[in-house]
Amino acid sequence: MTRACRVSTSIVLFSALVLTTPAVTRAQGSLNVYCSVQAEWCQAIANEFQRQTGVRVGLTLKGSGETLAQVTAESANPKGDVWFGGTGDPHLAAAEQNLTVAYKSPNLDKLHDWALQQARQSGFKTVGIYAGALGFGYNPELLQKRKLAPPACWKDLVKPEYRDEIQVANPNSSGTAYTAIATIVQLFGEEDAFRYLRQLHRNVNQYTRSGVGPIKAVARGETSVSISFMHDGVTEAVAGFPVKIQAPCEGTGYEVGSLSIIKGARNLEGARKFVDWALTPQAQKLGAEAKQFQVPSNREAQLPPQAPKFAEIKLISYDFAKYGASAERKRLLDRWEREVNSQPK
Ligand code: G6P
Repeated sequence: MTRACRVSTSIVLFSALVLTTPAVTRAQGSLNVYCSVQAEWCQAIANEFQRQTGVRVGLTLKGSGETLAQVTAESANPKGDVWFGGTGDPHLAAAEQNLTVAYKSPNLDKLHDWALQQARQSGFKTVGIYAGALGFGYNPELLQKRKLAPPACWKDLVKPEYRDEIQVANPNSSGTAYTAIATIVQLFGEEDAFRYLRQLHRNVNQYTRSGVGPIKAVARGETSVSISFMHDGVTEAVAGFPVKIQAPCEGTGYEVGSLSIIKGARNLEGARKFVDWALTPQAQKLGAEAKQFQVPSNREAQLPPQAPKFAEIKLISYDFAKYGASAERKRLLDRWEREVNSQPK
């Protein structure tokens, strides 16, 4: 189901709920949630928060970079109340640009340190709700047909035999792809990283808008390999598609998926209530129920058994302060546009 389609389904659901909910709960107002995780999870949090509180939830589903652009464009007349999910870097950039507001939820002390660190770093304008490691997804059936070995390392992806076999998202719209660029820069150093990205460009058949586009293409057999969050590969495998995931041998970056209250929120009280709720184990288990396999940020929330194990993945010490800074983000994106995306293959 497309994002647009999901939104209209939710509008129908909301209308149905509004019509059948007693006046007491109807008086709780509405909350506009900008949601940057997969549609199934967005829908689940909207339905459940609305059911528990009577607050009507309106959903806008967009990727992390796209949501940052929207919140920036609307800053003079904000329309969103909270921004749920998506990679942490653009949430940090929004905090730095005063597009979001500080809130110290009483549930902060229940969180893993990496989630709290995200809050401290932003002056409490954002907070971690989940973590996920970056890696590759591949379709073993397609690779076998093409007589290609599955990729094990970042360096494998630039081999000539993978020409046109790889998909990754566009880092302007997608936080997944921005995490990939920042990871490659941190692993290889900036000059070698851009040399690598130019080589990779020859093997990329499409830069998709959304971060999950490439793994869905792997699942459908439209491309052999993707650069994706590993948990998104698990979602496809659990749904029965021929998808396998791989952690890159050189090491890899990760995201701290975040949650922020938008500055100028029309329903600030509802937004705070939503943040408190989203940090509880009960709300966080909706992710796994919607077949999303990130690591939840509440220490008491259960790690879904299918979630990729962080302890088994060689993780870099991702510099969130540096790569979440708006100037650095803009500089890397401009450089990618100039030196990679605009180049012929
Ligand atoms: C998927 C992943 C999330 C990630 C998000 C980023 O939904 O499951 O963990 O935060 O993509 O989306 P984007 O489109 O910005 O890459």
